[in-house]
Amino acid sequence: ALRKSIIAKTAKQNHKFEYHLQPRASAFKVAILGAAGGIGQPLALLIKMSPLVSALHLYDIANVKGVAADLSHCNTPSEVLDFTGPAELAKSLNGVDVVVIPAGVPRKPGMTRDDLFNINANIVRTLVEAVADNCPDAFIHIISNPVNSTVPIAAEVLKQKGVYNPKKLFGVTTLDVVRANTFVAQKKNLKLIDVDVPVVGGHAGITILPLLSKTKPSVSFTDEEVEELTVRIQNAGTEVVEAKAGAGSATLSMAYAAARFVESSLRALDGDSDVYECSFVQSDLTEVPFFASRVKLGRKGVEAIISADLQGLTEYEAKALEAMKPELKASIDKGVAFAQKQM
Ligand code: NAI
Repeated sequence: ALRKSIIAKTAKQNHKFEYHLQPRASAFKVAILGAAGGIGQPLALLIKMSPLVSALHLYDIANVKGVAADLSHCNTPSEVLDFTGPAELAKSLNGVDVVVIPAGVPRKPGMTRDDLFNINANIVRTLVEAVADNCPDAFIHIISNPVNSTVPIAAEVLKQKGVYNPKKLFGVTTLDVVRANTFVAQKKNLKLIDVDVPVVGGHAGITILPLLSKTKPSVSFTDEEVEELTVRIQNAGTEVVEAKAGAGSATLSMAYAAARFVESSLRALDGDSDVYECSFVQSDLTEVPFFASRVKLGRKGVEAIISADLQGLTEYEAKALEAMKPELKASIDKGVAFAQKQM
């Protein structure tokens, strides 16, 4: 009986994994730049499980060979290739549909995301130059902080190279949505899977604005709850930085969130017509040139920027939106100035 139950269990588990063993008709190539890092490794694992991926290209300046060898033993359809150092960067981008960039240094306690600017700005500039030269048509997902500045840097680099397509450049803010959904569900005793909170603005401190009044399913919050949840969502990254006490920032929840954004992009590329995610993109929703909001994703990238979420804001949200704009604008300008200085 024990043997029977083990066989049944194994069959059930295998059945679950069969899904991943069957490649879909269309499958895509994904590259991770910074793949050996805290985010890069679990992100690579999650992407390796996607039935929409045919090849996973892992690039880093060090330690990527072992990560790739390890991952390549998972019996899921995608092929895993490793690329080490600048000499192999171009090859890592060959024929790639989606490039995810988590390369760079993370925060330590007491640091803001902007403190990372000097190091990460250069890393993102160099990597995006290579993207422009080798796979200019790919979706580009920027994770490296400060996202509010690194995305405008990427845009400038792509413009300088004559290949900027604003519909395909994304700052990854999915983790803010993931956190908002989790915290709201916990606070309101809702089923997690059902909760969706749009988070707009940017990806640092007060520029992270969860629109709690637009939560689905519709829920009501007291003023105290709004204040408490908003502040917690804005500081959730710092909560992790402090808990890790010098060992870095969010990596596992970030990998989960980034994998969700990659999967959504792949579904859009595959022709799914109902794909919506929040992302920090070039936007005319407000007077700030880059702004995170819900966007509809399609084969060509951003198909529509959803303006409805910014209508009918509560007084608290409207005030917070106005209050963030100068900081967001300054971070964008800083990125643009950095990129233009390099010309
Ligand atoms: P990590 O230090 O563990 O990994 C970074 C990786 O980047 C390392 O493997 C390193 O070798 C690699 N790297 C450095 N320079 C490179 C270059 N020029 N080319 C390619 N790879 C290079 O850091 P972690 O924790 O993975 O964080 C990465 C970035 O993601 C940080 O900037 C962090 O602030 C950001 N982040 C963004 C979040 C978001 O919501 N957008 C959330 C959490 C972190």
